Amino acid sequence: EAPLTALQEEILELKKQRNAVILAHNYQIDPIQQVADFVGDSLGLAYKAEATDADVIVFCGVHFMAETAKIVNPSKTVLLPELNAGCSLSDSCPPEKLKAYQDANPGLYTVAYINCSAGVKALSDVICTSGNAVKIAERIPADRQILFVPDQNLGNWVSKQLDRPMQLWPGSCYAHVLFSVRAIEKVKMAFPGAPVVAHPECVEAVRDMADEVCSTEKMVGFCRSHPSDTIIVVTETGMIHRLQREIPEKTFVAGPTDNCACNDCRYMKMNTVEKLRNCLRDMTPKITMDEGVRQQAYAPIKRMLEWSK
Ligand code: 13P
Ligand code: SF4
Repeated sequence: EAPLTALQEEILELKKQRNAVILAHNYQIDPIQQVADFVGDSLGLAYKAEATDADVIVFCGVHFMAETAKIVNPSKTVLLPELNAGCSLSDSCPPEKLKAYQDANPGLYTVAYINCSAGVKALSDVICTSGNAVKIAERIPADRQILFVPDQNLGNWVSKQLDRPMQLWPGSCYAHVLFSVRAIEKVKMAFPGAPVVAHPECVEAVRDMADEVCSTEKMVGFCRSHPSDTIIVVTETGMIHRLQREIPEKTFVAGPTDNCACNDCRYMKMNTVEKLRNCLRDMTPKITMDEGVRQQAYAPIKRMLEWSK
């Protein structure tokens, strides 16, 4: 592991001064993961955000993740190094559109993947992450028709796992849908016998090629326990840093797309070490939210956190 740079040391010093905790998603660049107190998936990060007794939460991830931290722990200052770090899934489902659909189709049980805005969470019955989606959907009474928003791929995967039809919002992760059958076939030929682990945001034909489909956190467990010493990891490339740090004895091959050997999420990669230092130094940009929306958005998150224990 590379020694820390002066900028990274400065971040650790500022973190102490501010009594801050740094939470980083598995897709963040390696130098950010190195200075984080916790690196994990959306679910693990939500639990950490809820439980922390630090004064300041610095969320190195995208906007909906930092917003979730604020919803579950509103008395804390929540900082996001780059306020424009959005998410194509979240953008695909504006609250007004969801509201109009729900009004036109009354009685639906709305399950929202955590990759959505506070406004969408406030309109939902329960939230899920890729780590607990099946477990959450299983708890919904059988006589209720489910509307799953905003990821049609994760929704389709859950629906197949449970053999339960669901209405799917037509959103997708722009990065994960770039993985193609052709690109994964090629990499499988280059690493014969290597198992494939894929994120459920991938399209069905790609998921069908995987030995395991799971959240980024569960990928760590899969890679640790699988007997193979080479594993093909079909998700955002930042995941490889986490895997290499925790399982240094194995080789991880980033899932390629048709055009590139790797696949970075342009939003996740907007955070830089410099922006992380600046946000701790200047205590901005901060996540703020209407208190009414926050309370409405908290109810389905709380339900998820309870159901998913
Ligand atoms: P995980 O919860 O599996 O980390 O997924 C988050 C995400 O944004 C996937 O694109
Ligand atoms: Fe959103 Fe996809 Fe980026 Fe995850 S990888 S933050 S789902 S755009």
